[in-house]
Amino acid sequence: MAELTVENLHLRLGGNEILKGVGMSLERGQVVALLGPSGSGKTTLLRAVAGLEQAHAGRITLGGKPVFDAEAGVDLPAEKRNLGLVFQSYALWPHKTVFDNVAYGLKLRGTGREEMRERVQAALNQIGLGKHGERFPHQLSGGQQQRVALARALVYKPPVILLDEPLSNLDAKLREEARAWLRELIVTLHLSALCVTHDQVEAMAIADRILLLNAGVVEQEGSPQDMYGAPRSLFAAEFMGANNRIEGTVAEQRDGYAALAVAGRTEDEPLLWGRLRADRTPGGPATGIVRLESVRPADGPGPNRLALDLVTSMYLGERWEYLFHRGPLKVRAYGNEALEPGRHWLEFPADRVWVF
Ligand SMILES: Nc1ncnc2c1ncn2[C@@H]1O[C@H](COP(=O)(O)OP(=O)(O)OP(=O)(O)O)[C@@H](O)[C@H]1O
Ligand SMILES: [Mg+2]
Repeated sequence: MAELTVENLHLRLGGNEILKGVGMSLERGQVVALLGPSGSGKTTLLRAVAGLEQAHAGRITLGGKPVFDAEAGVDLPAEKRNLGLVFQSYALWPHKTVFDNVAYGLKLRGTGREEMRERVQAALNQIGLGKHGERFPHQLSGGQQQRVALARALVYKPPVILLDEPLSNLDAKLREEARAWLRELIVTLHLSALCVTHDQVEAMAIADRILLLNAGVVEQEGSPQDMYGAPRSLFAAEFMGANNRIEGTVAEQRDGYAALAVAGRTEDEPLLWGRLRADRTPGGPATGIVRLESVRPADGPGPNRLALDLVTSMYLGERWEYLFHRGPLKVRAYGNEALEPGRHWLEFPADRVWVF
């Protein structure tokens, strides 16, 4: 069953149309990540679901009940929507203990003392802070504070939890650990969550489905594997993953593949074949996108191989990253060893190149 649905939502802020007909659904027990560039409307959509911004058209239902319906004049206030909210600045109350911070939502809802004590303790145990209830926020690390903010949102068992960049205040290492911890918590507690992030790796790790927003419109929606492996637009292809962008003109088309004459191509260089992902006119311009991990250093010339000059090799610990140039063309790739300076052959497997 869909725990949350959004249909054709239009929302204006300060005279600008920010959401332009957004639709989505969140199934029980699922996590949907909202992904998109800065200003694409992620926070606005979350706030509209929470009842903190008012749309002017569309519908929002929670647990099958409409909480917003522009046509029917339904607009349930935020406090009646019973959602758990965790915002980017998690702002714990500095003069309340961890226990009292977490208990606040239950107190507001008139929960009895004994039940409140049990539920807060259970929530603190779940986040691994069972022994820290008497501490104050300044006596916790950043990661622990972030977990308290999550416990505060989870303790009254909201059917849907809304997270806006919940891990953004953590440094890189802590953030990776917290990501695994958050996913575990969501899975073991069977939560349904809508989670905003601008980090696509985090989105893929945490979510069952990803909704990619572009200027207030859903650009593409699907499983992390779909989004990463089968982008339907240049925007989606470039947004997910680390990519090379190869400009050229369409020299041939056959069986769903197109051959690019790469900008700056010499007479004897092979054409670059890739899967055709958009309508392109023969002879017209097109863009090839290939993920860094799909480019392979090769031992010599061959089909779909180009020769480029190595600019530098960067050591990344578990692998090397190379930067190659040839005229206007720049290509990055990964490998297992430092490469000698000079000219190298690179293979671009045709089914890993998308032509838009
Ligand atoms: N109160 C407001 N009045 C007018 N425009 C606003 C208002 N709040 C936000 N906007 C605009 O709405 C657009 C979407 O903002 P939103 O905060 O939803 O983006 P976002 O996707 O969450 O971005 P970020 O990744 O930077 O947090 C932006 O262009 C922003 O400037
Ligand atoms: Mg935002």
